[in-house]
Order: sequence, then structure tokens, then C-alpha cells
Amino acid sequence: MEWGMANRMAQLIQLDGHALFLPVDHGYFQGPTRKLEEPRKTIEPLLPYADALFITRGVLRSSVDPDNTRPVILRVSGGTSMAGKDLANEGITTSMEEAIRLNASAVGISIFVGSDYEKESLLNLSKLVDEGERYGIPVMAVTAVGRELEKRDARYLAMSCRIAAELGARVVKTYWCQEFEKVATGCPAPVIIAGGPQVNTELEVFEFVHDGMQKGAIGVNLGRNIWQDDFPVAMIKAIRAIVHQNATPKEAQEIYESVKNTPDRK
Ligand code: 5RP
Repeated sequence: MEWGMANRMAQLIQLDGHALFLPVDHGYFQGPTRKLEEPRKTIEPLLPYADALFITRGVLRSSVDPDNTRPVILRVSGGTSMAGKDLANEGITTSMEEAIRLNASAVGISIFVGSDYEKESLLNLSKLVDEGERYGIPVMAVTAVGRELEKRDARYLAMSCRIAAELGARVVKTYWCQEFEKVATGCPAPVIIAGGPQVNTELEVFEFVHDGMQKGAIGVNLGRNIWQDDFPVAMIKAIRAIVHQNATPKEAQEIYESVKNTPDRK
């Protein structure tokens, strides 16, 4: 691996081989998502606990100070919205030149395997990988499901992740599912877990993150289940303990409760 690529990968994946990415990119197709209406307010308290931010250029410029940030994974796919016909019909929205100008450590793009736009999204990934490799910028592929959340099973996710890795993604972001080992084992690139819509309890989040880590994920890219929680700092600290200190779900819950009960720890 070239020095630049290796250095950027090291900014993202920590010395223990694990990573906690904080995605705040949801507005690129959802608009002002709940609790992300004012991105700066959401991001600032969580920033010290994130290994990287997954973010669009617009929110990066408007809501993150350049002298106080974490490594950036720039969301570079989009062009669709919740109001439109098909979320899968994405293109590349941001050039590699812009990613370099913004000092991104990586770029991220969604792929939509099985959709009407499967081919376009996979060719977009391939093109982005070609450009990223030229400049030493890793590409993170996001195995997106659009509105079809029920697609999140091991068979589908294993196929999507494997295809993303075959096309050259340096990191693959997917969802947790039952039999997650089938997803992680079949993917030669490091796999990280997204959360999807907020689940019912904090413990559920700790359990799926822990299970995914035990079964081969190297970390998380967890958004709504952190910043839509009533106590986001408590949540990110608890998840950080699972990712970087091998904490059990019960230990994570204890961390959550103790941080939650500290004054000013919203
Ligand atoms: C949105 C994304 C998000 O980065 C991803 O879904 C992770 O966030 P969450 O944990 O909220 O699902 O790709 O387009």
C-alpha cells in the first residue's frame, strides 16, 4: 500500500484495528433529520469520542471548525431525496479534487445491489475507487437498502459487501443482521456496522454492536442510535467501550447509566 493510502487508513482504523465512525450525512437525502436539524449542535459534544466523521461537504463547511475536527469521510454520492421516486438512483456529487481540498481521509458512496440502479451504483463505486487509488484516498462503500429495510439479512448483505470489496472498496459499511459472521467472513475488506433507524432500547444497540464485533466487524458507523438518544454522549461513550475496550453489553449499559447521571452530560 502506498504511504498516503496507508496513512489515511491509519487515521480511520485505530491501532487496535477497530474504529468508531460517526455518520451525520443523513440530510443529503432526508433533509433536517430529527436531532440533526442543527448539525453543529449534534456534532460538537460527540466529536471527541469519534474516530472519524461521515459527512457531506456542505455540513462540514458550515458546522465543523477546521481547527477542531476529526478525520473526515466525505459522503460523495447523492442526487436523490425521500420526496423523489427512487433513492437508489444516485450519482457522484463531489469530485476527488474537492475531497483533497477538504483534506478528506476517505470518501464514501452508496451502492444499491438488487435495485433498478444496481449497475449504475456499482460502476460509480468502481470509478470512485479508480480515482481514489490514484490519489491515495480510501473509498468506503455503503451497502444501502433505501426504504427496503427488510432486505437486511445475511444473504443479501453478504452479497452486497462482497461485491463492494471486489470492486475495490477499502472499507465496507453494512448493517448488523443475524448470522453476521457470514457477512464479515465473506468480505475481504474491513466491515463496519451502521445502525439504521433508532431501536427501542440502548441495550439492544449494545447487543447488536457487541455481536457484530464478536463476529468479525471492526467497528461501527452509527448515527441515529447515538444522536437521537436522549443522552448521546453517554451513548457514544458506551459504544466506544464495546468497540475499543471489548466491553460487554452489560458493561456498556453501566457506562451509559453512569454518564447519563453525570450533570450536563446530555
Ligand atoms: C445515511 C448513511 C448513514 O451514514 C448510515 O445509515 C449510518 O447511520 P445510521 O446508524 O443512522 O443508520 O449512510 O445515508
